[in-house]
Amino acid sequence: MPHHPRVFSGTQPSGDLHLGNYLGAIKRYVEMQKTHECIYCVVDMHAITVWQEPDELRRSIREVAAAYVASGVDPKKNIVFNQSRVRQHAELAWVFNCVARMGWMERMTQFKDKSAGKNAENISLGLFAYPSLMAADILLYKATHVPVGDDQKQHLELTRDIAAKFNNDYARSIAEQGLEADFFPITDPVIAGPATRVMSLKDASKKMSKSDTSEGARILLMDDADQISKKIKRATTDPEPLPSEEKGLEGRAEAANLVGIYAALSDTTKAAVLAEFGGKGWGAFKPALADLAVAKLAPIADETRRLVADPASIDAFMADGAARAAEIAEKTMKEVRSIVGFIG
Ligand code: TYM
Repeated sequence: MPHHPRVFSGTQPSGDLHLGNYLGAIKRYVEMQKTHECIYCVVDMHAITVWQEPDELRRSIREVAAAYVASGVDPKKNIVFNQSRVRQHAELAWVFNCVARMGWMERMTQFKDKSAGKNAENISLGLFAYPSLMAADILLYKATHVPVGDDQKQHLELTRDIAAKFNNDYARSIAEQGLEADFFPITDPVIAGPATRVMSLKDASKKMSKSDTSEGARILLMDDADQISKKIKRATTDPEPLPSEEKGLEGRAEAANLVGIYAALSDTTKAAVLAEFGGKGWGAFKPALADLAVAKLAPIADETRRLVADPASIDAFMADGAARAAEIAEKTMKEVRSIVGFIG
């Protein structure tokens, strides 16, 4: 029997949310709730794989949850919660630590990037095991679709490998429990749209990220109109005017990035943006992009600020979401415990 369609995704409460998080993930969460049952998590357990100051972590958890809602996620229709509140995430992650192979984890490029040049004494074991916790997040809810940016693709492939290995290693036990042979679904990554990989505004060969030391490289979700306009006006570009067709973006990473951002913010395609701006120079395009970004992002920032001013109401919808999440999670964990051979 095919698995019931269900969406799961999550964002880390570490550092400030930026335009890549919004266009690659959060905006897509909002779109998927129209057609799917959705679970959106603030993954605080992932955040502490790198040291977080506790007060700052608390602030950031609430801000990410608020940003989901301010962007249009409905916490009543869907489930919105912080990961650590549902203990089964940690429990399933342990089982997956015993299913996943060291070699698989060693191939994770994000781990290699984050640990590059660092002494092993300064890298947490959690950072290495992190993709196994991510697989647990998704599979605890038997989620079939996971909207993410392009940088999470490898982690989702690993999630599929873990699901397949679990289903295979425990095939006999799964059958004995009277459960479906494909106990865990082979999850589909949903990486689509014109901005699956938003690049740095300063160096279009690097993705926009929370850790970039240059402030001008990223637009923050909480930036004001002035900051957004300045960052766009100062974004690195080439001297050529915009092409009229997408093919003309080849080899022009900066142009491709800004056109992709414009397309995603205005819910259209790069081709449509180029049909409008083809032949025009940056002097025309950048102010138009700045106006569009301010028009779309400022209301979200205002609403996020309004929501975080009342932390109790955020905590209340996260507690309600966690209670509903835990019901689904415990059902899966009960099955997993008996499949594995645990008692009780
Ligand atoms: P995180 O917190 O780094 O990023 C949250 C989401 O934002 C996307 N993203 C981007 N998209 C486009 N362009 C960019 N420059 C850009 N930067 C970030 C990410 O792809 C992600 O979708 N491991 C995940 C969090 C996670 C998760 C999960 C996701 C934990 N468990 C289960 C899905 C399902 C992460 O660190 O994302």
